[in-house]
Amino acid sequence: MKLLSAIPALVLAAPLVNSFLLQIETRMPPTSRLSNIHITFLGPTEGPINFTYGSCEQQRASDSHHFITTVQDTTVDRLVWVIPMDAYSAGCISAWSVTTGLLLGRSDEQRFDAKAIQRRLTRRDNYPNHISMDNSTGVDVWGPWFDGVDHLKNSECSAIDAATAKRKNIAIVGAGMAGLMTYLCLTQQGLNNISIIEGGDRLGGRVHTVYLSGGPFDYSYQEMGPMRLPLTLTVGNVTYNMSDHQLVFQLAEEMNRLNDGDENLKIDFITWYESGSSQLPHGGGSRRVGDIPIQQGIVGVNDSLVGSGSSDMSIEEIFDKVNKALPCKDFCVEMATNMFKAHRKWLDRGLFDLAGSNEFAFMVGVANNNANDTHFGYWGRGASSFWDKLCEDMYLNTTTWRTIDGGMARLPLSFTPLVEDAVTFGRPINKVLYSPETQTVTLESRGDGSNDEYNTPAPVTSAHDYVALEFETRFWEHLDEPIHGSCWVAGPEYPGIGSICYPSYNINGTGRGSLLGSYISNPAWTERWIATKEEEHVAYVLKAMRGIHGEIVDEQYTGRYSRVCGALDPLEGASWADPSVGQHQLYLPEYFKTHGNMIFIGEHTSYTHAWIASALESGIRGSVQLLLELGLVDEAKATVEKWMGRWIDVQ
Ligand SMILES: *[C@@H]1O[C@H](CO)[C@@H](O)[C@H](O)[C@H]1NC(C)=O
Ligand SMILES: *[C@@H]1O[C@H](CO)[C@@H](O)[C@H](O)[C@H]1NC(C)=O
Ligand SMILES: *[C@@H]1O[C@H](CO)[C@@H](O)[C@H](O)[C@H]1NC(C)=O
Ligand SMILES: *[C@@H]1O[C@H](CO)[C@@H](O)[C@H](O)[C@H]1NC(C)=O
Ligand SMILES: *[C@@H]1O[C@H](CO)[C@@H](O)[C@H](O)[C@H]1NC(C)=O
Ligand SMILES: *[C@@H]1O[C@H](CO)[C@@H](O)[C@H](O)[C@H]1NC(C)=O
Ligand SMILES: *[C@@H]1O[C@H](CO)[C@@H](O)[C@H](O)[C@H]1NC(C)=O
Ligand SMILES: *[C@@H]1O[C@H](CO)[C@@H](O)[C@H](O)[C@H]1NC(C)=O
Ligand SMILES: *[C@@H]1O[C@H](CO)[C@@H](O)[C@H](O)[C@H]1NC(C)=O
Repeated sequence: MKLLSAIPALVLAAPLVNSFLLQIETRMPPTSRLSNIHITFLGPTEGPINFTYGSCEQQRASDSHHFITTVQDTTVDRLVWVIPMDAYSAGCISAWSVTTGLLLGRSDEQRFDAKAIQRRLTRRDNYPNHISMDNSTGVDVWGPWFDGVDHLKNSECSAIDAATAKRKNIAIVGAGMAGLMTYLCLTQQGLNNISIIEGGDRLGGRVHTVYLSGGPFDYSYQEMGPMRLPLTLTVGNVTYNMSDHQLVFQLAEEMNRLNDGDENLKIDFITWYESGSSQLPHGGGSRRVGDIPIQQGIVGVNDSLVGSGSSDMSIEEIFDKVNKALPCKDFCVEMATNMFKAHRKWLDRGLFDLAGSNEFAFMVGVANNNANDTHFGYWGRGASSFWDKLCEDMYLNTTTWRTIDGGMARLPLSFTPLVEDAVTFGRPINKVLYSPETQTVTLESRGDGSNDEYNTPAPVTSAHDYVALEFETRFWEHLDEPIHGSCWVAGPEYPGIGSICYPSYNINGTGRGSLLGSYISNPAWTERWIATKEEEHVAYVLKAMRGIHGEIVDEQYTGRYSRVCGALDPLEGASWADPSVGQHQLYLPEYFKTHGNMIFIGEHTSYTHAWIASALESGIRGSVQLLLELGLVDEAKATVEKWMGRWIDVQ
């Protein structure tokens, strides 16, 4: 952008002033049709100032190619510049005194791709700086939205005071991973008036490690939430990174940098042993999770639901086609390398390459319904979307996994120094109110847990129940057929147990070890368990462990356990989002809109759901959305470049 010869030339070309009173610059190359112009007042000015774009030698404002904006006072330090479609490259931005017509400042030469196309953006009167994240700005809400931010094309022209914009009072509701990520993104772009309101008493939300005895490096802990992170996928002899999960590793790197080697806060990744043995002893038909044919997804969408459809295909034929489309072949690789582009392609191509179909072609087309009907009609009947099934299958086919050394809770814990002054614990938000008059949002916390009209059915999995038991040693690793990590589905003689998960980290470690003796989400059982006294539930699980492993269970049990019943915890009740047919389609574009000054983030608002990476991605998207709302275009682009640019292909 710098063309040194232009500087003496424009000083000569401005005979009426000796030196400029205004410094004008773009701090990032105007790679898109939308850019921030930074202005610095070097001396006193009077009256309004017009900013224009035109030749670097022009001497009158009227010779400009286009008018940018008028600035009324000297508090402004940033302009939002929409470069019109017919603008030529290599011109300069000039500032003119409206009262005297004198040239007050001129930028360096600006180079950009003048051929890029511009579309009009509709203006929302309440938000003079508003820049939508939707098709009008080139953002693809169904696919790689960050490409659109990188190439943001248009917005209303306006002048902002960046410092004032950055002082805006912002509340983040919830200190889960999405909220923490949002706080990091926004504060790193200079926003300095942000608070985090958390209903519970700790950071991390559904990231929840329980330490049965000792600290993180005594390795007697269990995860009552996320356990592991997909790292790579090997298909044939080629290994791919699970690119969307790289965000978690990048975040850990950033937190380690911010915490400057503080050992108490350091995050290290270790191998997670997903399948460490072939059989459970005395298991009576127990099978390793993952060896069970995956039956989620299309279960529940049965003939009676599609019976009135107009398709020639029978339900069996459709299932057959779905199943053939799913094994991890080329599309799985596309998902692993760029989940966002794969999602877009999936929508464009449709389930069976039906013209104009989408992820819900099956339900919408075949069942002859619209998306609303499929959503409201089938919600709660287990009709998961095909996309969700695809993602789940792909992630569960991960070849190598990682977990956090000392427990997943160390990820939110690492945020402590960053957020401790910003977070308020123990304040659940029951209601949000937007006032169009003051353009502010009021958060209401009555603290009594009641939740009147704001009761939308959430697209989530059933709550999970976890019972962790501690033993003096990891005896299961020393059996004739040792078990080195992984989860197993308990056989039919152990009803109500669900899966048993052996610690998949610190394999061959000495000292105490804790396993999940029961991990279950079947509502028929979770309902029963929440009505059961904790000691009785734990005794039942111990009995099952005795059945599987024999007397050693009693010899080694330390008496320490931990039970978490998701359904009893309003803050963790929903294990993860599991959109049913129609929900993804209906809701996703809404998450890209700002509703009455509110932006929705959280794992449920991302493309993939259910993973920490999904929560982080939603936090980045929400932050970018907010920065654009405030007119902080450079910051929005910098956020994309920092977080999405590294491992996802931003063209
Ligand atoms: C400043 O801009 C306004 C709005 O476009 C225009 O009416 C006015 O003539 C301009 N004044 C100068 C001195 O360029
Ligand atoms: C978004 O914009 C592109 C280009 O103008 C257009 O082809 C596409 O159909 C639009 N998509 C939607 C969902 O409106
Ligand atoms: C934060 O925002 C509030 C509400 O706009 C304002 O009163 C307060 O001065 C701001 N605080 C800072 C530090 O800028
Ligand atoms: C991968 O396998 C294919 C066939 O199985 C072989 O032709 C190819 O050379 C292998 N590639 C590498 C990098 O080993
Ligand atoms: C996977 O990610 C790591 C770390 O970011 C990187 O060094 C490596 O090159 C990536 N591998 C592939 C195949 O993209
Ligand atoms: C199919 O759905 C109907 C209506 O929900 C239900 O009555 C029936 O039991 C289901 N059939 C199967 C095989 O799941
Ligand atoms: C998982 O990978 C195996 C081997 O690469 C493949 O046979 C299987 O179809 C894959 N499963 C899914 C659900 O993609
Ligand atoms: C779904 O219903 C809502 C409320 O009636 C309506 O605003 C929306 O346009 C409908 N969406 C579709 C895709 O039919
Ligand atoms: C654990 O120990 C067993 C037996 O010595 C060994 O075969 C296995 O490779 C070890 N596993 C790990 C992860 O260290």
